[in-house]
Amino acid sequence: MRTAPRVPRPAFHFAPQRHWMNDPNGLVVHRGLWHLYFQHNPEGSHWGNMSWGHATSTDLEHWTEHPVALPYLPGEQIYSGSVVAPRPGDEDLLTAYYTSAYDDDHQAQSRATSRDGGFTWELDPDNPVLDRGTSAFRDPKVVRVTDDAGGVRWIMLCVEADDRQVLFYASDDLRSWEHLSTFGPLGDEHVVWECPDLIPLAVDGDPHDVRWVLTLSTNPVGDHADPEGSSMSYVVGHFDGVRFTADEPRLVRLDHGRDFYAGVTFDGAPGGAAIMLGWMSNWRYADTFPSAPWRGAMSLPRRLSLRTIEGAPRLVQEPPGFVRAHLARATRTTVLGAAQPRDVALSDHALVELRWDPASTGALRLGLQGEGDARVDVEHTPGSGTLRITRSGSAAESVHPDFPWSSTVALDAAAPARLLLSLDGPLLEVFVNDGESTVSNLVVLGSGSTTMTLDTERHSPVTLTAVDVPVPDGAGAPVLADRADALA
Ligand code: FRU
Repeated sequence: MRTAPRVPRPAFHFAPQRHWMNDPNGLVVHRGLWHLYFQHNPEGSHWGNMSWGHATSTDLEHWTEHPVALPYLPGEQIYSGSVVAPRPGDEDLLTAYYTSAYDDDHQAQSRATSRDGGFTWELDPDNPVLDRGTSAFRDPKVVRVTDDAGGVRWIMLCVEADDRQVLFYASDDLRSWEHLSTFGPLGDEHVVWECPDLIPLAVDGDPHDVRWVLTLSTNPVGDHADPEGSSMSYVVGHFDGVRFTADEPRLVRLDHGRDFYAGVTFDGAPGGAAIMLGWMSNWRYADTFPSAPWRGAMSLPRRLSLRTIEGAPRLVQEPPGFVRAHLARATRTTVLGAAQPRDVALSDHALVELRWDPASTGALRLGLQGEGDARVDVEHTPGSGTLRITRSGSAAESVHPDFPWSSTVALDAAAPARLLLSLDGPLLEVFVNDGESTVSNLVVLGSGSTTMTLDTERHSPVTLTAVDVPVPDGAGAPVLADRADALA
């Protein structure tokens, strides 16, 4: 009998202390604290009893887990939703919108408020407050918008998941909602749409050219569901306060790996920054991933922007500042001048940056060799213009038959290239060319050390920076704490 591979606990990503987690919910910054609520089963390591778990951070690197914020109720689970930062003049009031998923297959939106900084919540006695009487109406994301005259309004996006539609609502008081418009259906018919978000971003930093980016998550359904499983997409367009109009009516893949889902942005982030967290798993095999006593982790927080690439605005996702800070103190910077394989020992928690010119090096191969035959291979072949990231080995096969996989992403061979790899236990995120594309995957390399091998087709320099990230005491396990600890 095959034994399950040991999965190290992440050190610089959030994972719950125990039990199941899926989507990030209620991302909000309030009084200097980054709040992360999350879909959580407080009683077991499989999906069920859905409740909102809660964690906070002051730096987005280290997280503290708190008691469950919104527990499931008799006959009702608490599905995904969002929290809005206080409105001016009432600095203490946080408002949450979530989906009440009733046992009779009915889904509608409910409201809760907090006056103690998001630690305890009072449910609205009128719940559900937005109800269409349908069975897949969910994932409210509330976004504050300011009109040209400086007036404030809130826009709520929800999906009719089975219809592949995003419904837009507006409110002036965060209580009553008016239906504005509906976007979709669009794209692949064999998926449901989940967890929308709407994000204003300046194209190439130009404040006079702000576009709205509609992000959403798609999960294949039906008898012949795509084995690649769930993933995220986006559409760039315009939002006139009522209706979202796509510049190009097609969904663009947001992350090219297997494990980035249900990503949404923080409300109230400093400077209006768009910081997204996603769930690093895939509905195809989430419940067989062999981590314990926890199951489910969040991605690195990514800063979103729009950059013109090949004539169109594309979403760029940059790694957080603390990743850059760790790399900046790296002592191991090696310039390779030979096509000799070069071995570097990494811990389970490491950051690696590579810079090279594919026109000079030809093909580049980076391998991560874990326990036994567990491997991840990153290969750039200039002829194909693609970067391929493959996870393989018997440990990968033991997770699920569809877990071994190659993810591919375009990488131009004509220009110098940069890759940033973040490995934190089972979480491997690759940022290509400073986030012009990203590839996020769960990996099962085992525990202990990983050997990284690097070689190129031709003799030509590659700049390699690698640093092990220190693991906090308790191997990164968040400590359950009360409000006073979080604010201390
Ligand atoms: C997305 C999702 C949401 C839903 C939640 C339930 O992963 O299916 O649509 O609200 O998870 O846990």
